[in-house]
Amino acid sequence: MDRLRVIGGIPLQGEITISGAKNAALPIMAASLLSEGEVILSRVPYLADITTMAHLLMHCGLDLSMPSATPGSFGYSLSLKPSGKAITDAPYDLVRKMRASILVLGPLVTKYGRATVSMPGGCAIGTRPIDLHLKGLERLGATVTLEGGDVQVTAPKGLHGADVTFPFITVTGTANLMMAATLAKGTTRIINAAKEPEVVDLAKFLNAMGAKISGVGTETMTIEGVSMLGGCTHAIIPDRIETGTYIAAAGITNGDLELIGADLDMLSVVKGELIDAGMLFEATSRGVRVCRADKNKPLRSINIKTEPYPGFPTDLQAQIMTLMTVAQGTSTVTETIFENRFMHVAELLRMGANVQIHGSSAVVTGVERLKGAPVMATDLRASASLVIAGLAAEGETIINRIYHLDRGYEMMETKLNNCGASIERIV
Ligand code: UD1
Repeated sequence: MDRLRVIGGIPLQGEITISGAKNAALPIMAASLLSEGEVILSRVPYLADITTMAHLLMHCGLDLSMPSATPGSFGYSLSLKPSGKAITDAPYDLVRKMRASILVLGPLVTKYGRATVSMPGGCAIGTRPIDLHLKGLERLGATVTLEGGDVQVTAPKGLHGADVTFPFITVTGTANLMMAATLAKGTTRIINAAKEPEVVDLAKFLNAMGAKISGVGTETMTIEGVSMLGGCTHAIIPDRIETGTYIAAAGITNGDLELIGADLDMLSVVKGELIDAGMLFEATSRGVRVCRADKNKPLRSINIKTEPYPGFPTDLQAQIMTLMTVAQGTSTVTETIFENRFMHVAELLRMGANVQIHGSSAVVTGVERLKGAPVMATDLRASASLVIAGLAAEGETIINRIYHLDRGYEMMETKLNNCGASIERIV
């Protein structure tokens, strides 16, 4: 199993190109199942999760051309078109690799009147049920049964529009319902819809295919069903979580990075908190430059609480907590989205961090320096936080189970090494 060896203590200097957003690319690829024509996507990141989704879509009957990424460049274009055959089951082998496989449920059931998707299991950050996806589909007229670990959803006469109110915000639940509603008869309103930029990007893509979706990015989204959707071209938005991860890397190493293609409008709460912590952001013609406002001083502690967009994203909680481990003072980090998302804390303690967990909050008291140690990655964002910790730590950090990182960060060690980091993959 691959591991990373990181030698810490080098301030990062240079530029990093931000990749397309994984969490926008995955639902948009799944939505391509709805199209009668060819869809061409650009800025698709080259990631293990994207490959898993590509295999799933080919299994379901899409023809995909997926040229390998050119060495040294990021992202690629992807063409997806119907092959004429339609397979409406998503097997356990593919679903267990990636929870986002559940995103094919909405498109398959609305287009073909049936879908079987293996029930995704729990994961390191919590149980993560899909009850809201299923209740929403039932509101649109589908029948849902659970058989041998598979969720079977049928709607032989097609779906119909309805009001669906989510009791709390679900990102992929909103995406699934929105996709299902595009071909339903009549009008659907999704109330308490997710406002995440990736959901907005999906709606933009669906509208380009001919869907009629309005109110995107607000609490209530309205979808007028249409009879068919056609092909289109679409460029995936930049990855705000990757952007935030490299901002943390610049801050913790006291470096100076230009993040090419970054869009900080999608990170305004994070940016505000990090300015309070002592970071400087400067717009450039190609993106944004980020460094400490005063390179002779440590960062200051901040208090953060994860919330649905536009609040502080849970997917940046581990990385920004890591930044706070070397800030002056005591920070409080509160996680409100997932019940078990402090798995990185035990590993940070091994590196000399001072963090105490009290229920859903972590109290982080800054130390002068982290120390390299062998650590274990537990999930995607926790892995990124350990790389960030390793970049700042004294000596050598070995990060085990690095396959998590390959699911969500395109060429991370290349991007960081280009800016002076010392990261080596050990097979
Ligand atoms: C998406 C993102 C993930 C991010 C998360 C929160 C993708 C592919 N993944 O995950 O990176 O961390 O949003 O921003 O976009 N819940 C239920 N029942 C449901 C659905 C969700 O109880 O049917 C709960 C979850 O367990 C969680 C909360 O709702 O506690 C929010 O989850 P949700 O927004 O659905 O996360 P995902 O869409 O899975």
